[in-house]
Amino acid sequence: MASQDNISTLANGQPSDNPGSVQQIRYGNSNGGLVVLSDTQTVEVLAHFARERIPERSVHAKAAGAFGEFEVLEDLSDLTDAKFLSGIGKKTPILTRISTVGGEKGSSDTVRDVRGWATKFYTEEGVQDFVFNDLPVFFIRDPIKFPSMNRSHKRHPRTNVPDNAMFWDFHKNNPEGIHALMHLFGRRGIPETIKNINGFSVHTYTLNKADGSYVYVKWHFRPDDGIKTMDAETAAHLAGTEPDYHIKGLFNSIEKGEYPTWTVCIQTMTPEEVATAPIDIFDCTYTWPHERYPLRRVGRLTLNKNPDNYFQDIEQACFSPSNMVPGVGPSADPVLQARMFSYPDAHRYRVGPNYFQLPPNRPKNPVYAPYVRDGPGTMNGNYGSDPDYVFSELRPVAQSKRVQMPTHELWTGNVTAFTTTVTDKDFEQAQSLYKIICSEPNGQEQLLENLEQSLQGVPEKLAGEVLDYLGHVHQDIKNALQKRLSK
Ligand code: HEM
Repeated sequence: MASQDNISTLANGQPSDNPGSVQQIRYGNSNGGLVVLSDTQTVEVLAHFARERIPERSVHAKAAGAFGEFEVLEDLSDLTDAKFLSGIGKKTPILTRISTVGGEKGSSDTVRDVRGWATKFYTEEGVQDFVFNDLPVFFIRDPIKFPSMNRSHKRHPRTNVPDNAMFWDFHKNNPEGIHALMHLFGRRGIPETIKNINGFSVHTYTLNKADGSYVYVKWHFRPDDGIKTMDAETAAHLAGTEPDYHIKGLFNSIEKGEYPTWTVCIQTMTPEEVATAPIDIFDCTYTWPHERYPLRRVGRLTLNKNPDNYFQDIEQACFSPSNMVPGVGPSADPVLQARMFSYPDAHRYRVGPNYFQLPPNRPKNPVYAPYVRDGPGTMNGNYGSDPDYVFSELRPVAQSKRVQMPTHELWTGNVTAFTTTVTDKDFEQAQSLYKIICSEPNGQEQLLENLEQSLQGVPEKLAGEVLDYLGHVHQDIKNALQKRLSK
């Protein structure tokens, strides 16, 4: 920590007599001067400045982050033996980062967008990350479409501004996103604060035990302060006047000791129940009906400490669905499978191959991974003289007996080039959601208003096709939008 007593030094520790001075050849106080290259202090400051950015995340670049804790409130021993989920009252330190998706690091908070929710649990068996969203379903289910989908939400390659035509051109031609779109254009598309959003796993995961038994799980983080949303007009105003509205809100409430909390719940399904499930549980465009798969309470998340340094702890934080601990597992959702590759890949590029050694990413339990070594920024002792190859008898390693993956989820099949197709069933949950939206005060009006805004500037033919697409959810949406757009 900086204090008034600190003697200013250069990065090598040599004391500086004036950190604001520049060595130069001068004729007195005016007439300029010639700066000399032997001024290490100036060279160091300028050279480091030119290198002080790391690439921003290609999605989810703008975010707030805070530390906190997770507490187990219910017994889950029938489902999992993950240590951080075992024992009522058990507490685990966490780090959470909540983001918008499409905008850059400096973009406004109060935009209509999905909010990303990433939480790191520093458990005694390793780092467990949950990399979730605030909407329960996703826009795509063929993972190769992810970059395309995001580009269509970002800046046009020519004009460099977001473009409604591009947005709808993507979604109308990749219609499996209709359920997510209905959420996005409904009231939850813009939250009032970060404290008032959900976190959804979106994908199906598993919880499992050392005996190989497992269940399928969807995770839900529910804000204890309730869901609160913001109307589009207020949001547009704040986007201009208070672009960091959500980040400030979270930071200030934590500073004041008003700690936001979320109740962690799960829906579960046994492997035997999958065959008769009304939806494909490996398709992240579907939710599981709550009447049939009720929520079960697990614990509570609390955010109670702001980072001392945003860059170190939040910008350099690397969250990945592949960070799992014994007792938690993935499922056969292809989007989740692709994500398990993509995030660590992004981290190696964005933060460097030794990102696991940096403070926010470092596991709190002992790590012994001598086959992952060397590389830029090595600072973990690098396993000294230990063998850097497997199966050494000079220094044998002990092996965990813990089964990490369910053993009886066995697969046989052919390698095929596969892409999903869209059927009427893909509109069913969007249709049910529309009914819910219509039953909320002013819900239908806001949905139509938000959709109308998003159709501004879309060429007539495409706009007509988008109306047909939305009309597949309900003819009223098409009719009402037709009227509004023809005014
Ligand atoms: C094929 C699908 C997807 C791919 C390839 C993908 C890829 C990525 C990448 C590359 C990043 C940036 C990571 C970094 O630089 O640290 C990212 C961030 C993120 N993604 Fe995804 N993503 C996908 C789908 C999803 C889904 C379905 C969710 C939610 C359930 C999600 C939630 C997030 C969140 C919350 C972040 C920000 C993490 C942070 O705070 O650092 N993504 N994604």
